[in-house]
Amino acid sequence: MSFKFGIIGTGIMGKAGGRILQLVEDVEVTALADISETMLKEAATEFNVSAIYKNYQDMLEKEDLDAVYVATPDQYHRDSCIDAMNAGCNVLVEKPMTTKQEDAEDIYKVVQETGKKFQVNFNHRWLAPYHKIKEMIDDGQLGEPIIGFARKNNPISVPTSMLASWAKDSSPAWFMNSHDIDLMVWWFDANPVEVYAKGIKRVLKARGMDTYDGIQSLVTFENGQFATFESAWIYPVTSPYMPDSFMEVIGTKGTTHVNRKDESIDAILEEKYTCPRTFLNYKVFDEWVGAMPSSVRSFVSACKNDTETVVNAKEGLRSTAILDAIHRSLESGKPEKIVLNF
Ligand SMILES: NC(=O)c1ccc[n+]([C@@H]2O[C@H](COP(=O)([O-])OP(=O)(O)OC[C@H]3O[C@@H](n4cnc5c(N)ncnc54)[C@H](O)[C@@H]3O)[C@@H](O)[C@H]2O)c1
Repeated sequence: MSFKFGIIGTGIMGKAGGRILQLVEDVEVTALADISETMLKEAATEFNVSAIYKNYQDMLEKEDLDAVYVATPDQYHRDSCIDAMNAGCNVLVEKPMTTKQEDAEDIYKVVQETGKKFQVNFNHRWLAPYHKIKEMIDDGQLGEPIIGFARKNNPISVPTSMLASWAKDSSPAWFMNSHDIDLMVWWFDANPVEVYAKGIKRVLKARGMDTYDGIQSLVTFENGQFATFESAWIYPVTSPYMPDSFMEVIGTKGTTHVNRKDESIDAILEEKYTCPRTFLNYKVFDEWVGAMPSSVRSFVSACKNDTETVVNAKEGLRSTAILDAIHRSLESGKPEKIVLNF
C-alpha cells in the first residue's frame, strides 16, 4: 500500500517537495492545501491531484493521510504541525520549526503525546562536507569545537522579489541563519545559553519593507564555546551567489572551512556571471539528487521503518530557541538568556 502525503503550502518549497515525493517509491501525493487558490490550482495541475483544500484543517479531516509536508511561511508552522499530528499524521516541516520558542515547545509536547514521526527539513545535514565536519569532530580530529563562524548572505532580490509577500514578517536570520545554526548546534553538541545580536534597517526599510538588511549574532554555549552568525539580504542583484555561504569551526586541535558560495560552478555568460546551484536539489537524469531529496527520503524511511528522524523536534526547538533569542536581543539591544525546557 502506498504511503499517502498531503502538502500544506504549495509555493516554491511545497512544489519542490512534491516533485521529490512523486519519485519516491511507494509514496503518493494525494492532497494539497493552500490559502491561495492560484497556487493550489497550479500545484494540482502539476501533481495531477484532485483533492485540494483552501483550509488545511478540511484536508486533515477528510483525507486519510500518512504524513504531511508543511511548507507554509516560517511564522505559520505551529498550528498546521500540531493539527496534523493530532489528526494522526507524521510531519515533515520546513525550517525553521517555528519562529517563537513557545510555539516550538508546543509542537515538541504534541510529538511526545502522539508519538508521531516529526522532522524539521534542515536538509544541509545531508550535504557531504557538513557531514564530514561532524565526523571529524566525533572522531576527535578537530578536538573540541570551541569557536564557530557562519555567513549566509543573499542578493536583495530574495526579500524584494522571491519572498516579496512575507519577507517583511521574517528576517535574514530566520530565513538564512537557521540552517547554519542547526549545523553548528549539531557539531558543537551543546545547549546554547546566551545570545547578543545586532541588526540594521536601512536599505530595505527605504523600499518600504520593515525588516533587517543584515544581522550578526554571537551565541554562547554551555561550556563557554561560542559562534557568530551573519546574514544579510542586501547584496546587489549582480551577486552571482545565491547565497554567499561560508562556515568555519575552530577546534582545540584543528580548524575546518566550508566555502559553498559557488557550489563549484562559475558560469560566465554574455548576460551575467552566475554560479548555478546543484547541491541542494537537482534533477540528474530521472532522479532528484542533493540534500533536500535525501532529507525527504530519510523522513519517509523513518516513518515506514519506525526509526528516529534525523532532525527531531528537540533539535528543531533548540535552533528556534536561538533564533527567538536573536530577535529578542535585536529588540532589547542587550544579551538575552536562553532557557531550554526539556
Ligand atoms: N529547506 C530549505 O532549504 C528552504 C529553502 C527555502 C525556503 N524554506 C522554507 O520553506 C517554507 C516555505 O517557503 P517558500 O519559499 O516555499 O514560500 P512561498 O511563499 O513560495 O510558499 C508558501 C505558500 O504557503 C501558502 N500559505 C501561507 N499561509 C498558509 C496557510 N495558513 N495554510 C496553507 N497555505 C498557506 C502561501 O499561499 C504560499 O503558496 C518557509 O518556512 C521557508 O523558510 C526552506
